[in-house]
Amino acid sequence: MTIRNHYETLLAAHYTWMFGRPFDDKVAEQRRLFEHLGALPKDRGLAFDLGSGPGFQAIALAELGFTQVIAVDLSPTLLTELEHHKQGHAIETREADLVATLAHAAPESTDMIVCMGDTLTPLESRAEVTRLFAHATSVLAAGGTFVLTYRDLSAEVTGTDRFIPVASDANRHLTCFLEYAPDTVMVHDLLHEREGEQWSFRASAYRKLRLPVDWVATELRAAGFTRVEVKPAGRLSCVLARKT
Ligand SMILES: C[S@@+](CC[C@H](N)C(=O)[O-])C[C@H]1O[C@@H](n2cnc3c(N)ncnc32)[C@H](O)[C@@H]1O
Repeated sequence: MTIRNHYETLLAAHYTWMFGRPFDDKVAEQRRLFEHLGALPKDRGLAFDLGSGPGFQAIALAELGFTQVIAVDLSPTLLTELEHHKQGHAIETREADLVATLAHAAPESTDMIVCMGDTLTPLESRAEVTRLFAHATSVLAAGGTFVLTYRDLSAEVTGTDRFIPVASDANRHLTCFLEYAPDTVMVHDLLHEREGEQWSFRASAYRKLRLPVDWVATELRAAGFTRVEVKPAGRLSCVLARKT
């Protein structure tokens, strides 16, 4: 299943619910994360939010003073949710592939690029990740920053540890099952929903890359980023890269 179909047929409708907290709390959390990381550049003109989903980072960046935010995602459902939440902020939504979008952006036009919440691992291949990093160095202006948060799946879990309860309430349960291959993991999302007295079940799967954080940092340096720092960000790994 393609990542777009996975979101459109199963995950997008439940994506924000999955976090178990109000939308504005997630935006505030991302705002604090940018500040805590020291990731905000001096100039705050254009920012790209790659794989924006419903816009937790795009809205946080607009609130932090970026004058234009371009939010890119393959899921029309999640971009519609972002449109609903963006209020008066200067956020443009684009239904497009994130690598192709950066490939066509003007060189040195951008102050910050973010690709967060595990958007990196669904890319096609490591070569595609390397291409993304090359486009990011070219598109950023001097002083610009690139922030990645993603799940490092390089260490394999086995047995029943591969079943992850993601979220649940009285009417919905979302569970994830991870199936490891040498370079990739098939992520199976298993959704139970109550309709009256009956429970329905649907499943959908897509593939993620296993990207060790050291490999990501090395590729960013090879792409021309001068300062690359690996930092913890809750359950995800965070890599902050600067172009000086
Ligand atoms: C795990 S969500 C992260 C959303 C948001 N950034 C967050 O932190 O909650 C990953 C998002 O990336 C989008 N996505 C995945 N691959 C993409 C691609 N190649 N181009 C654009 N969007 C993509 C998905 O549609 C999904 O909305």
